[in-house]
Amino acid sequence: MDEKKVMLSGIQPSGELHLGNYLGAIKNWAARAEEFDCYYFMADMHTITVRQTPADLRRRTLEQLAQYIACGLDPEQNTLFIQSHIPQHAELGWVLNCYTMFGELSRMTQFKDKSAKHKDNINGGLFTYPALMAADILLYQPDFVPVGEDQKQHVELTRNIVQRFNGIYGDVFKMPEPYIPKAGARVMGLTSPDSKMSKSTPEGCVFLMEAPESIQKKFKRAVTDSDTVDPVRYDPINKPGVANLMNIYSAVTGKSFHEIEAEFAGQGYGRFKPAVGDAVIETLRPIREEATRILADKAYLESVYKAGAEKASYTANKTLRKVYKKVGFVPR
Ligand code: TRP
Repeated sequence: MDEKKVMLSGIQPSGELHLGNYLGAIKNWAARAEEFDCYYFMADMHTITVRQTPADLRRRTLEQLAQYIACGLDPEQNTLFIQSHIPQHAELGWVLNCYTMFGELSRMTQFKDKSAKHKDNINGGLFTYPALMAADILLYQPDFVPVGEDQKQHVELTRNIVQRFNGIYGDVFKMPEPYIPKAGARVMGLTSPDSKMSKSTPEGCVFLMEAPESIQKKFKRAVTDSDTVDPVRYDPINKPGVANLMNIYSAVTGKSFHEIEAEFAGQGYGRFKPAVGDAVIETLRPIREEATRILADKAYLESVYKAGAEKASYTANKTLRKVYKKVGFVPR
């Protein structure tokens, strides 16, 4: 029998999901369900490396699950679960901590960034987070790990851990590959087109659950340039703001850059920006409505994450047992 390849990814429920998460990640995941055996989880254990308000974390975790489903991740076809429901993450995380070097962890750019940002709380978890992420991945023996550019270094570290561990104990873990979406799906901030769309710059970030009027306001304020000769033209080097809007418009309408240029030929940003806004609003409308409906159905949500945890823990437990045996723990 031809086994399906396995794909796994996680998002931290540390903020609201936004258009960048959807176009750059979740939308592509939904399209992969047929081809791959897919696991997606809410990485709640990772979020407490920085302080969280407990009630907010709980609410956002469930909201995120509802939004995943509303974005097209069918729980019948994908294994959707909450990280903290699977104790094997913490258990394998500890083991892998012992196979991850201080020097390796010190080189992680996300650690450097986050410790610079949270100087009052540079805790051990923040430092060893990549070992937990390696455990998240390796428990499920995935072939591919779809991540953004910013997480590539962590997947590379995971590969080093696999090499080290398998080098000592034999073929325990499958070597995972990062799966970086093509540049076209990379959504930049509307007010800062040189950096990724991010919830930390809310004025340039379009949230999945945001009201249409608010979305439209953000698009009208999107950064472009002072080109009046041939404004809507794809030139990411010289016109990054416009290129980003074209990317977004292309992603939500399926139109090519050529088609978009033709559509807005001779027109200024006053026509273009609201058109992009409208197209995004229409794409997000059914997602927002569906997510709101799902979130109100607590019994359904619970049934989804319980079924997900049951499926995930079967695989996770199999891997953990093997690891415990290899390192020499007495079987329970
Ligand atoms: N570290 C990822 C992020 O901050 C989230 C994450 C945690 C993840 N565990 C993972 C992603 C495993 C992919 C695979 O975005």
